[in-house]
Amino acid sequence: MNYENILIEKENKIAIITINRPKSLNALNKPTIEELHSALKALELEKEVRVIILTGSGEKAFVAGADIKEFSDFNMSEGSQLAAKGQELLFDFIQNLNKPVIAAINGFALGGGLELAMASHFRIASTNAKMGLPEVTLGLIPGYGGTQRLPQLIGKGRAMEMIMTAEMITADKALTYGLVNHVVDQTELLDFTKNIANKIANNSATAIGRAIKSINANYRDGINGFHEEIKNFGECFETEDFTEGTTAFIEKRKAEFKGT
Ligand code: HXC
Repeated sequence: MNYENILIEKENKIAIITINRPKSLNALNKPTIEELHSALKALELEKEVRVIILTGSGEKAFVAGADIKEFSDFNMSEGSQLAAKGQELLFDFIQNLNKPVIAAINGFALGGGLELAMASHFRIASTNAKMGLPEVTLGLIPGYGGTQRLPQLIGKGRAMEMIMTAEMITADKALTYGLVNHVVDQTELLDFTKNIANKIANNSATAIGRAIKSINANYRDGINGFHEEIKNFGECFETEDFTEGTTAFIEKRKAEFKGT
C-alpha cells in the first residue's frame, strides 16, 4: 500500500514507521492517523515482523501534536468525535496491539505526539527531545488519552503540573520521571532502539503478546489483572514456542521461536 504521510522500512524482524510531515513537524492530521492505523493493522498480521518502532522524520520533531490547523473551527460534537475516533483508531489500538511498539522520540513530542509515544509500549528519547502536553495554552485538554496515560506513567502530581503549566520537559527529566526508559544521542537513537527491538524479536512472540495483554489488564476497568495473567499464562502451554523454549533449555541450546 502507498502512504503519503508515513514511511515504512523493514529490517530483519523489525518494522520502522516514520511519520513524515516534516514541514508541519509531523503533526497528526486525519489522513496520518488513518495511515498509521492501516499500517499497524497490516504489520500486526505479518508473522515475520516482531517489533515495530515509531519515529518522526527530520531532526526537529517526533510529532508536534494533533494538526491544529485541522480542528481550529470545530464545535463540541466535532471535537468529541476527533478524540474518540483518534483514540479508537490509533492510541488504544497501539496500546492493545499484540506486537511491541517502541517510540523513538527524536525531537519535540507535544500534545498528541506525546500521547502517541505514551500509547506505545515504551519510549526511548534522544538528548534533544522535548516533551509536553501544551493543550491548555490552546484552551483545550489532552484528548488522545494524555490525562490517563501521563499519570499512569509518572504519577498524578507530576502529571497535574505538566498539564497545568503546559511546560515542556527535557529528555533527562523525562528519564528521571520514568516517562522514557533511555536517553541517547540523536545520531544513535535508531540503532540503540533497533538493538533493544532485536533482543525482543528473538524471544517468543506468542508469550510477548500475552505479556502485553496481561500488563494492560491492570489499566482496564472491570478486569482483574491477576486473573488475566493466570489465563494468559495457562494459554502459553498450548503454544509451540513453549515446547521449543523449554526443550531448548533442557538441550542446552538457543531457542528458535516461530511465534506459533
Ligand atoms: C499544525 C504545526 C504544529 C501542529 C507545528 N506546526 N506544530 N502545524 N499542528 N501541532 C507547524 C507550524 O505551524 C509551522 O508551519 C511549522 O510546523 C514549523 O513550526 P514552527 O512553530 O515555525 O517551529 P518552531 O518555532 O521551532 O516551534 C516548534 C514548536 C511549535 C514549539 C513545536 O511549532 C509549537 O508550539 N507547535 C504546536 C505544539 C502544540 O501546541 N501541540 C499540541 C497540539 S493540540 P508553517 O506553515 O507556519 O511554517 C493536540 C491535541 C491532541 O495535540 C488531542 C486531540 C484530540
